[in-house]
Amino acid sequence: MKLLAVESSCDETAVAVVEDGRTVLSDVIASQIEMHTIYGGVVPEIASRKHVEVIASLAGQALAQAGVTKAGLDGVAVTCAPGLIGAVLVGVNFAKSVAYALDVPLIPVHHVRGHIAANYIAHPELEPPFVCLCVSGGTTALVDVKTYTDMELLGATRDDAAGECFDKVARVLGIGYPGGGPMDRLAQGGDDKKYELPRAQVHGAELDMSFSGLKTAALNLIHNAEQKGESLDLPSFAASFGRAVSDTLVPRTMLAAERLGYGKVAVAGGVAANSRVRGDLESACARRGEKLFLPPLKLCGDNGAMIGCQGYYEYLAGRRGDASLNGYANMDVGFPSFS
Ligand code: KG4
Repeated sequence: MKLLAVESSCDETAVAVVEDGRTVLSDVIASQIEMHTIYGGVVPEIASRKHVEVIASLAGQALAQAGVTKAGLDGVAVTCAPGLIGAVLVGVNFAKSVAYALDVPLIPVHHVRGHIAANYIAHPELEPPFVCLCVSGGTTALVDVKTYTDMELLGATRDDAAGECFDKVARVLGIGYPGGGPMDRLAQGGDDKKYELPRAQVHGAELDMSFSGLKTAALNLIHNAEQKGESLDLPSFAASFGRAVSDTLVPRTMLAAERLGYGKVAVAGGVAANSRVRGDLESACARRGEKLFLPPLKLCGDNGAMIGCQGYYEYLAGRRGDASLNGYANMDVGFPSFS
């Protein structure tokens, strides 16, 4: 079964052709990063307009690269939630039109479920159940992946997502947008114990997380140094920050893994590219006998292939959209029936 898969929930327009869930025939991405860099963050209105400009030609490229004609498509999968609502709606309306014109099924996909599915593309042997740490610019959550389409939220951030914190701190340091990659590179060779930064606990909810205190503490440290005319040891600051993020994510992931006892842990989303988080998870999983699945760096960020992969499993489970399909800024990863 060949699906055209469409992703437009944030600042990347992505279209892929995926066969039977796990074979990626093409995966094209138009990134808007350069444009949003001027503003130091994603400007939702600009994101939506840029998606409109490129989405149709990107779909043409995806078909050409896959060597598939429109008539060869068996369905259209699309991210319908969560994300910047204007941006999500561009993809949803494009996918609706294509599905209607070709008279093929329309399959709504939850963006975070797509990130989780990136692991199926990279690891053919991976099957549910497993615990997944989903960590990106908009999401930080632990998910019980019971089956390909039955998922439960185990815990989540109560405030900022981890990626958002990397981005805000990097913006104040002036080292680029999005900030996670530059912070990661800056941290190499730094002393991760040089700066004291907080790790928050959410009382009564051991699997929940909080990053706003860490973000504020990091920003205060930068501003205080500026006011005193002192210069920070930037590699050590970035390393200390990365360690604080990892100290929040990794123990909770291991606790969730221990409670569920599946013996399998996966990671998903842009922050899954972080070398500190990857390294700490590798060590923790090796110690506890958990098998760890990490997506390759190119599948950590937003892409269309992951939507085509998850779309296939949603299709098999009977999920369908129709002309009334809407986009949603927020949606539980349990992905209730909504249309
Ligand atoms: O998954 P993604 O592309 O988009 C969302 O769905 O949010 O994730 C983007 C996020 C950004 O916050 C970016 O700074 C972060 O992933 N990121 C990283 C790294 N690479 C990307 N964060 C930490 N370390 C990295 N190496």
